[in-house]
Amino acid sequence: MEASIDKKALYSLSYGLYLVCSRKSDKLNGQVANAVMQVTADPVSIVACLHKENLTTECIKESGIFSISILEEDTPMTFIGNFGFKCGRDFDKFGKCSYDIGMTGAPLVKEHTLAVIEARLIKQVDIFTHIMFFGEVVASCHLKEGRPLTYAHYHEVKKGKSPRNAPTFTLNEVR
Ligand SMILES: Cc1cc2nc3c(=O)[nH]c(=O)nc-3n(C[C@H](O)[C@H](O)[C@H](O)COP(=O)(O)O)c2cc1C
Repeated sequence: MEASIDKKALYSLSYGLYLVCSRKSDKLNGQVANAVMQVTADPVSIVACLHKENLTTECIKESGIFSISILEEDTPMTFIGNFGFKCGRDFDKFGKCSYDIGMTGAPLVKEHTLAVIEARLIKQVDIFTHIMFFGEVVASCHLKEGRPLTYAHYHEVKKGKSPRNAPTFTLNEVR
């Protein structure tokens, strides 16, 4: 088989959609990410892969903590737009949404959220344009029943796109 990258093959990977949130001193910030998953069971650990230019990346590097909000299927596009297409350097993402502060100090967004997870950074891996943040889970809370928002639903039903800093950015052209 001739070596070539078929973007349609990569487009077949499945993901959920999440908010990854953290802080830098008093500045709270967060972003949408599809590149999030659990990696071990005992102890429980997770990984989030974030672009080097993002403010959330800067926050996690500095504070060593982050939270994950698992978004519900009905999450409005305006909410995804605020967290996924705007940078916290130009916009206060926590000005209008409801949240708590978790035991690590990370903000926990509870709007449009089925469950929240808090983690302490244990390792970071530099991977080309992105950093993979591995965290040990220190707390988690199931908030409500519902269907989690998948990347497929975001694309196929909500007709959403992926911005430049998403790892899947180049797959926009496949659809
Ligand atoms: C559907 C969707 C998926 C995304 N997935 C990721 C991701 O996995 N990793 C990433 O770094 N950025 C991802 N992004 C882009 C960030 O959310 C976006 O660059 C954000 O503006 C960064 O905000 P910040 O600079 O305030 O941290 C995604 C955005 C959307 C809308």
